[in-house]
Amino acid sequence: MAIPCPPFIGSEKLSVESGAMSPSSPSPLILTQDELKKIAAYKAVDFVQSGMVLGLGTGSTAKHAVDRIADLLHQGKLKDIVGIPTSKKTHQQAVSLGIPLSDLDSHPVVDLAIDGADEVDSNLNLVKGRGGSLLREKMIESACKKFIVIVDESKAGGSCWC
Ligand code: A5P
Repeated sequence: MAIPCPPFIGSEKLSVESGAMSPSSPSPLILTQDELKKIAAYKAVDFVQSGMVLGLGTGSTAKHAVDRIADLLHQGKLKDIVGIPTSKKTHQQAVSLGIPLSDLDSHPVVDLAIDGADEVDSNLNLVKGRGGSLLREKMIESACKKFIVIVDESKAGGSCWC
């Protein structure tokens, strides 16, 4: 599914370089749902700092955050990160990307967890676990000091929160 997107997200302008575009009639930028998930995931990773113990979420949105964390580690922009994956799948992804991993036994306090959700209501109640890893998600996300949930508008349930 492609979703038309305004040219501004937050304070950042998304530039579209095209000789065919006239300055007086900018074409709307069309982003797919996966691109929107990626933007949200990358924004969440802005909160990651070197030395943190991180809860690594599960699902198609959290996957982008794990990719981004690995990129920043390889670029040397993040150092001394320890990840605690919330599922086997995320464990495999993190291992394949070279993210150092641990578990709650060794690191019972998690500085920050980043994960997706299946549904969010206006009071920020979440439905989670449809990806099949609810127990580990609950354990790791209950142990974190800060929890960032990354969702796109398709996850809005109940009354509108946007
Ligand atoms: C995993 O068990 C779930 O809680 C996921 O975080 C949730 O299903 C969101 O997944 P998507 O980002 O793939 O929608």
